[in-house]
Amino acid sequence: MRVLVTGGSGFIGSHIVDALLARGDDVLVLDDLSSGRAGRLDPRVTLHKLSITDAAALNGEVAAYEPALRLANVYGPRQDPAGEAGVITIFCASVLAGREPTIYGDGTQTRDYVYVGDAVRAFLAAGDSGRPGTWNIGTGVEVSVLDLVAIIGAVAGQGIRPAFAAPRPGELQRSAVAADRAASELGWRAGTPLPEGVRRVYRWIESGAPDRVPC
Ligand SMILES: NC(=O)c1ccc[n+]([C@@H]2O[C@H](COP(=O)([O-])OP(=O)(O)OC[C@H]3O[C@@H](n4cnc5c(N)ncnc54)[C@H](O)[C@@H]3O)[C@@H](O)[C@H]2O)c1
Repeated sequence: MRVLVTGGSGFIGSHIVDALLARGDDVLVLDDLSSGRAGRLDPRVTLHKLSITDAAALNGEVAAYEPALRLANVYGPRQDPAGEAGVITIFCASVLAGREPTIYGDGTQTRDYVYVGDAVRAFLAAGDSGRPGTWNIGTGVEVSVLDLVAIIGAVAGQGIRPAFAAPRPGELQRSAVAADRAASELGWRAGTPLPEGVRRVYRWIESGAPDRVPC
């Protein structure tokens, strides 16, 4: 199959590209490289540097197909600390650098963390389903920032004493998604336990956060 991936040089996109290549697809990436990196891409991938807001250029490239999934907080190797689940990267990097991670607020705020390899499987399953639809992709489990600190401490093999700072105005207090429809319609479920996913992020940073690393 020939597949076009927009944002394919980014964190999630580059993992999706790897999975598509692994199953033998021919991949074209459209990316303006505003936050992505060409070095994340396997040499077999064709990269066209353009903004998808440039309608004329896009129309010249696309015979569009998009399964458009609702992702919870995706984390894993290659994630920029500024990403939507960047707290795992940031905290692991802090611990490895011997610094205290900073928690904004009291740390009871929750998110639904789904490992990037699981999110990739969801994209492939949605594409393979051959039909349009909207599916939530997450674990359904609320994990607090304090829980994360404990998990990272266990992975690092040391107790972590976080610093606390003022809460960020407007921050969502609780978040998790119901992924039942993805289970029943796509046969998809998250499979990576959070401690295992965190361990992979930790090891990735420890090894110098290389661009090319499997999920
Ligand atoms: N990471 C998460 O937890 C998460 C959760 C929910 C939704 N999302 C969404 O998934 C998408 C990818 O997230 P990510 O974490 O991989 O981010 P990312 O910044 O690593 O990847 C985004 C990619 O899109 C490219 N890009 C940005 N604007 C572009 C444009 N106008 N034209 C072409 N390319 C463009 C960037 O260069 C980059 O390669 C984003 O839309 C994000 O909002 C992410």
